[in-house]
Amino acid sequence: MSLTDPDLHPQVDRQSRSARADWWRDAVVYQVYPRSFADSDGDGIGDLQGLRSRLPYLDALGIDAIWLTPFYPSPLADGGYDISDHRDVDPRLGTLSDFDQLVSDAHALHLKVIVDIVPNHTSVVHPWFREALDSAPGSPARDRYIFRNGRGPHGELPPSDWKSHFGGSAWQRVEDGQWYLHLFDTAQPDLNWQNPGIRQYFLDTLRFWADRGVDGFRVDVAHSLAKDLSEPLRSQPTLDRQLPMDGSDPLYDRNELHDIYRSWRAVFDEYEPPRMAVAELWTPTSSRTYLYARPDELGQVFDFSLLNAPWDRNRFVEVINTSIADHASHAQDGGGLTWVLSTHDVPRHASRLALPSAVAPIDWVSSHGLQPLIDEDLGRRRAHAATLMMLALPGSAYLFQGEELGLPEVADIPIDAVQDPIAHRTGGAVKGRDGCRVPLPWQSDGASFGFGEQQSWLPQPPWLGRYAVQAQLVDGRSSLQLYRAALSLRHALQTRETHLVWLSQDVDGALHFRRTNGWECLVNFSNKPIPLPPGQPILRSDCTPLGPGTPLNPDTAVWLWRP
Ligand code: GLC
Repeated sequence: MSLTDPDLHPQVDRQSRSARADWWRDAVVYQVYPRSFADSDGDGIGDLQGLRSRLPYLDALGIDAIWLTPFYPSPLADGGYDISDHRDVDPRLGTLSDFDQLVSDAHALHLKVIVDIVPNHTSVVHPWFREALDSAPGSPARDRYIFRNGRGPHGELPPSDWKSHFGGSAWQRVEDGQWYLHLFDTAQPDLNWQNPGIRQYFLDTLRFWADRGVDGFRVDVAHSLAKDLSEPLRSQPTLDRQLPMDGSDPLYDRNELHDIYRSWRAVFDEYEPPRMAVAELWTPTSSRTYLYARPDELGQVFDFSLLNAPWDRNRFVEVINTSIADHASHAQDGGGLTWVLSTHDVPRHASRLALPSAVAPIDWVSSHGLQPLIDEDLGRRRAHAATLMMLALPGSAYLFQGEELGLPEVADIPIDAVQDPIAHRTGGAVKGRDGCRVPLPWQSDGASFGFGEQQSWLPQPPWLGRYAVQAQLVDGRSSLQLYRAALSLRHALQTRETHLVWLSQDVDGALHFRRTNGWECLVNFSNKPIPLPPGQPILRSDCTPLGPGTPLNPDTAVWLWRP
């Protein structure tokens, strides 16, 4: 899988890439879910020292940056997205000094560090919320959150029809009869972004972490925060599936958000180099998505359209074209183009891409992976092909820990072991997101496959050891070796334009594009092998011999070099 052609651009090493102020434009960012990455102290929960001890692994993998999901103090009602102190480390995960050591070690390897900022809500145990509960309706302490009187003769009905993303009403009643808004779990009360104190607090929180050396921020539910809270509260029973294109929804994607993010940009630009940010939005990708990526705002936005697409050639072409066009119309030189196939919120793509397009991945998980049964080899083949396709696209790519091992979704976690609040709020009808959060296997055996010395906080299935890092390091055809080869080649090949050229094919079901420097990617979505076009094959997703005479198997991809 090595590339020896001397005509290739010289590899730009990570040190040079990371020295660029806009390193994030074409970076490969690796998402770490710290509780599930590596456990250094044997309490079953992954921690910062565990991650620190595995930095050499990430160095060798060839990524540019790590994005850490929340490691802040939290009762863990929503995997750490229920924060009780935005400026500290949960004692189960470490200390601020551990965090500083982690950043320093990562920087020594020229790896950037991105942290999660969760501005829409806090935990119910946050001192502000406790103070709000102890204070009277209408008090300044309550004004940090969104408290309202209920409807009905005795205020016994929630103030509006707004729904929680995790099921049920978005309102919870408190002892004195008022209700508070929580767009997620009841343990995550929404903050009131009309309160200037909240705005200032988050500007200072960005500075707190930037001063500690973090290179960027991932902004949780960035399309929320600003809300139309004028009375009477407007009806919005459908969450964020269909949003108006003029920013007029009462809860999501409101125009005022862009003023907030412009004020954040002013903070990012206080630093040299300016800190980067990436917005998380679960709205359908639309021409409004890339507004958040404008250079005077966050600069980047997660584009989840590939992640939402089934294994279908035409859908992949369509979402790539739409994203490139939407990006061009808003972000222009901002470098906001991103691609994602897996995160901690969706079933892993090695399983998802084996599903028929009519089956919603989340429903498949809720059936414990039984309806339908999937062909795991097929899923892994397609996942590798989709990954090669994603890594050959212009822009930056976000990987989720464990996808480099080809990990499938663990769909059969026993329901009584599931911790996702979605499962609790839906009475188990929706099983939720734990299946992609199962702690990583580092060794083929041992109490938790090398994750730690004890059992892990989520049960690992017995078969997980087959995917262990230890085994994959010595198998030249493993998923891990494919990712390493792909990342190394990508760093040599990636260029900074934000467009590509589609090449036509005689064969139905082939997706084929070319980058300006002569890097091509061909994916076979058909059910028969297809001959390779001219060009030097440099990487195949199924690790078959690279010779040009070897046709491309179904459900696989190849990179070609044809300058
Ligand atoms: C984001 C996170 C998700 C979390 C939610 C509420 O979507 O990715 O894990 O549950 O925000 O904070």
